[in-house]
Amino acid sequence: MSERLILGIESSCDETGLALVALPQTGAPRLLSHALHSQIDMHQAYGGVVPELASRDHIRRVVPLARQVLSESGKCMADVDVVAYTRGPGLAGALLVGAGVACALGAALSKPLLGVHHLEGHLLSPFLSADPPEFPFVALLVSGGHTQLMRVDGVGRYELLGETVDDAAGEAFDKSAKLMGLPYPGGPHLSRLASSGNPGAFDLPRPMLHSGNLDFSFAGLKTAVRTHLVRLGWLDQADQLADPANAPVLADLAASTQTAIVEVLVKKSLAALKSTGLKRVVVAGGVGANKLLREQLDRSCAKRGIRVHYPELHLCTDNGAMIALAAAMRLQAGQANLTTEPTFDVKPRWDLSAI
Ligand code: KG4
Ligand code: ZN
Repeated sequence: MSERLILGIESSCDETGLALVALPQTGAPRLLSHALHSQIDMHQAYGGVVPELASRDHIRRVVPLARQVLSESGKCMADVDVVAYTRGPGLAGALLVGAGVACALGAALSKPLLGVHHLEGHLLSPFLSADPPEFPFVALLVSGGHTQLMRVDGVGRYELLGETVDDAAGEAFDKSAKLMGLPYPGGPHLSRLASSGNPGAFDLPRPMLHSGNLDFSFAGLKTAVRTHLVRLGWLDQADQLADPANAPVLADLAASTQTAIVEVLVKKSLAALKSTGLKRVVVAGGVGANKLLREQLDRSCAKRGIRVHYPELHLCTDNGAMIALAAAMRLQAGQANLTTEPTFDVKPRWDLSAI
């Protein structure tokens, strides 16, 4: 067998992602094709993800997207050697759709399955970039549900250094944005609004900045944003939040919020690099798309001779490519728990350092 073909299925939240990765006998895995359907438009009306709607939409999308990635790379279902799917963490119903389709394909094709940890997918996604990292490195995982600093010594060798004790960084973006009347998911919208604001205009806390450990806390920041909106008389006042006359002050609040989140992420990442003595950091997860975070981290790390690696921008948020890639890297490292049993099991809560 010259190279193995891995089909990756991501369905943990509000994105259905499919991808095909080729794993040669020697050398790095190659992404052949990937396709994504985002449910953002569907959930926007509700201001957040509605789990039941998410599952139903995944059911509609998975098979057509699988056909699309196969035809784009000139392959057919029978060419697939391993079916990889996101086993967790995520929404139980949404995960079960990906797991169910993976089990059905595996049984029909007599091919093994590989359940992948969603965060491992994010963590390894920079290996698909033009400037892939080398082990070991510090990883800053910043998604909608997780904020973690890890020491990564190789595939499957992950040591948790610190994590959020309450809200994740993405959640802090999303909840603050919602309070400001911005659409879901708030991170990119808040970031766009912040670009015209003054980041020093509002005094906001930098939670746990001096906690002496590598943990984070973002719940207090969201409460402080709320308090400022109460003082302005704009809390839950859609007409005030949408009033163009108030836009400059709202932009100041957005800029101040973004700066507070980014400052904590950058300082804690630098502290993790210092405590581990490592000279390389990888940023992964949706918040990794944030422009200010990238600028500040690049600047701080350049001064200290530290290399920073990111996934390609379009692979920062959820996608199937990172799931197929993580499976390929596990196979390559001889660490893949392949199964031919249609286990149909998922892990909505799953600790990355426990795998
Ligand atoms: O990794 P991801 O796609 O999904 C999870 O696994 O949670 O991350 C989604 C999160 C959301 O909270 C979203 O608002 C945030 O990433 N995000 C951003 C940006 N793009 C996405 N946050 C700040 N700035 C951005 N440009
Ligand atoms: Zn994610």
